[in-house]
Amino acid sequence: MALCVLPPPPPSKYYTTWRKSAMTVRMMTASSGGGGGGAGGQLSSSYEEGKLERPNWSGQTPLSRLVGALISFKPIYSVLKLGARQVLISTAEKKNVPWREMTKEILESDVYEEMESIQNMSIIYPDYYLNPFHAYDEGNLSWLAAAEAEAATSSMMRRTIPDASSLEEANEIVRGNWLNAIEQHHQQYSGNLKIRDILDIGCSVGVSTRFLADKFPSAKLTGLDLSPYFLAVAKYKEKKSHQRSNSFQWIHANGECTGLDSQSFDIVSVSYVLHECPATATINLVNESFRLLRPGGTFVVTDNSPKSRKLQELSPVLFTLMKSTEPFLDEYYLLDLEKVVKDAGFVNVQIILTDPRHRTLTATVPY
Ligand SMILES: C[S@@+](CC[C@H](N)C(=O)[O-])C[C@H]1O[C@@H](n2cnc3c(N)ncnc32)[C@H](O)[C@@H]1O
Repeated sequence: MALCVLPPPPPSKYYTTWRKSAMTVRMMTASSGGGGGGAGGQLSSSYEEGKLERPNWSGQTPLSRLVGALISFKPIYSVLKLGARQVLISTAEKKNVPWREMTKEILESDVYEEMESIQNMSIIYPDYYLNPFHAYDEGNLSWLAAAEAEAATSSMMRRTIPDASSLEEANEIVRGNWLNAIEQHHQQYSGNLKIRDILDIGCSVGVSTRFLADKFPSAKLTGLDLSPYFLAVAKYKEKKSHQRSNSFQWIHANGECTGLDSQSFDIVSVSYVLHECPATATINLVNESFRLLRPGGTFVVTDNSPKSRKLQELSPVLFTLMKSTEPFLDEYYLLDLEKVVKDAGFVNVQIILTDPRHRTLTATVPY
């Protein structure tokens, strides 16, 4: 395993005000999708961009500062945190995501036995990771956060496609369009490079890893995360379902500096991770992904789109609640991700709105 020393990247270099022309956001339309296995193939035609470069509740606007000041006042933060949690659970259950049942099932299972084989005792957590996240005081470092993660993901899918009649339908659009974007990009720019090894950085409890496995059934999957609790759930769930032909490994490491061998993956995926990271971590994650990919390999990021009309039009109550549980949203929305990716050395950088709220960025390591 190669060791790496993290240089302190200068994030402000990437905060330059965005010019419209600097962005290459495309919208996925009903005619632009490909087929493919796993979830996917179904595309919506109405993923609209808003009028702004980013939501005005994010970044450094007066509104954003006001919300920031509110959240930083401890008594208000505590109330918001509880409110955010209640909204999450009740909206999930209204949409038939059995949040409490799913959580109980994990907490009362044998998941704890996986911890010993997963946990890397020598890991040094980056400071940002020790912040409270998602209304959990210990952030992602707890059994409760791990037990609730899959319900939270399912709920997010239902919120993204509110008209979907089921979770499966919402996943087919959100996860399906993301998978199709990867497949199309890889076929277009890396045609001859067989997909043998896929790394899912920030795999959480393995939901994204399982979707990648179903889409690319002959690939070997590596799920990597900073939370040993999440990884224990991922491993427990994967062991319980014997239906896949792929092989899986779960690694407890920092995606900014994994220690894995250079050029050992054909696809590196980072899904719904970067909005939880400060800019410095994002820059490190992108550079590390570049190092880990083989020439011709495909990098894919999917996450909130600053251009999404839906996100720009979020109600003040909702965006205040959201910001109270996501400490790095302002940095996320300010960062010019396309520039970060190009500066890391990637080519063929494309950004597509793959659902009403999220963009998918794909890029290639040059041959
Ligand atoms: C919202 S979850 C990702 C969900 C998952 N990829 C999916 O699509 O369902 C974000 C994950 O990123 C992980 N994470 C954050 N920073 C990380 C880092 N530097 N290295 C590895 N994992 C990280 C967190 O522990 C968390 O599990």
